Amino acid sequence: MAETVTLTDNRNGKNYTFDILEATKGQDVIDIRTLFKETGMFTYDPGFTSTASCSSSITFIDGGKGELRYRGYAIEDLALNKSYLEVCYLLLNGELPTFDELKSYDYELRKRAYVHEGLKNLFYSFPDNAHPMAMMSSAVSALSAFYSEHIKMDRAEDIKIMRRRLLAKVPTLAAFAYRRSLGIPFIYPDLERSFTENFLYMMHAYPGQHLKIPDVQVRALDTIFTLHADHEQNASTTVVRSVASTGAHPYAAITAGINALWGRAHGGANESVIAQLEYIGSVDRVDEFIARTKDPEDDFRLMGFGHRVYKNFDPRAKILKKLLDELKHELGVDSELLNIAEKIERVALNDDYFISRHLYPNIDFYSGLILTALKIPKSMFTIIFVIGRTAGWLAQWIEFMQDSEKKIARPRQRYIGSTEKSI
Ligand code: ACO
Repeated sequence: MAETVTLTDNRNGKNYTFDILEATKGQDVIDIRTLFKETGMFTYDPGFTSTASCSSSITFIDGGKGELRYRGYAIEDLALNKSYLEVCYLLLNGELPTFDELKSYDYELRKRAYVHEGLKNLFYSFPDNAHPMAMMSSAVSALSAFYSEHIKMDRAEDIKIMRRRLLAKVPTLAAFAYRRSLGIPFIYPDLERSFTENFLYMMHAYPGQHLKIPDVQVRALDTIFTLHADHEQNASTTVVRSVASTGAHPYAAITAGINALWGRAHGGANESVIAQLEYIGSVDRVDEFIARTKDPEDDFRLMGFGHRVYKNFDPRAKILKKLLDELKHELGVDSELLNIAEKIERVALNDDYFISRHLYPNIDFYSGLILTALKIPKSMFTIIFVIGRTAGWLAQWIEFMQDSEKKIARPRQRYIGSTEKSI
């Protein structure tokens, strides 16, 4: 028999009983789907801090322990032993690929890395100072127009093509957005190169130049992609699922996810971290900014600190910190910014304000330092996040579409406006 919880309405003494649905790991959930029918009331939960919006078997997070798993595999194992492409396969197919499966997956993605020539005009139509994220979200949305022949969602084969297309073309569009922002010629994909190497090549090469991308750079960026690949029901993924719930195709859903990621409380934080480190400017000024953070009259926040779910160290931040320590000399990480970051971390981790609020460095605190060393400008940081997260958004989109309990996302509200007025 299912375990239950009983809710008592103290106004009239009525009891309402709800089933508890077990999770395989982590928090069980109270099934309140009949709550409104039975009680005539809604639940109130701004920011969904106590609400599970779906059942999912993709990513597991234990924020208290600082644990993150994709399809059961610890993020530390995946980051250390598997490529981003293997992680994409895992997220989308549920299992890690065999050698042959990986080879064929890699081939399927490489051959789709080029984009329709007409799409280039879209980039040219943007003003010179356009943020690459504006171009990125428009370009992903435009894919639906340039590749409309497979946009129907009733054939499994079309869905497979759409998801491969998105994964393969997003890095090309990202590099085009960057090059357009500089006014320099686009570099077409080099199909001889791996997924991540090819992206760095499209970012940095000159036309006709056979640019060698050092392995250390490929390894660092590949790890960043893996660490960003999925993070269960975060803000942008919730948006992707909500758009999917209306029946929209994945290009529309992922465009919405990209826009949700733009905000500085989410994917935009990595851009703000480096901007903040540059603004602080010197190790001597760290204490001044820590004091501002703690001042209730000042709304200054340390970017790259805190997380809605992790109330312990973000495991992705730990991996990046280790990578940074290992590769800082080979990558040529800016030592002044690194010193400021390390001092902030040291001070914050020993300060009661941060300890009592469980504020630890999150993934964005370190990723920007590595990206800067890879000569990727701040304005592209959130786009790097987009490239990594596309795999997770697609996996979540597929899971949503296959969910027999799915419904259009339509929360209710507690109305607090005027009651009835007449003209
Ligand atoms: N610096 C200083 N104080 C902070 C910070 C911070 N970065 N983050 C939270 N706090 C404080 C708040 O002021 C609040 O203090 P109070 O209790 O005295 O009012 C308390 O900690 C709780 O903060 P909330 O905003 O309620 O926490 P929430 O879980 O809603 O927010 C968030 C999480 C948005 C990530 C927040 O910590 C933040 O703004 N961080 C900075 C931006 C950032 O790094 N975002 C990246 C997130 S990771 C990602 O998207 C990949």
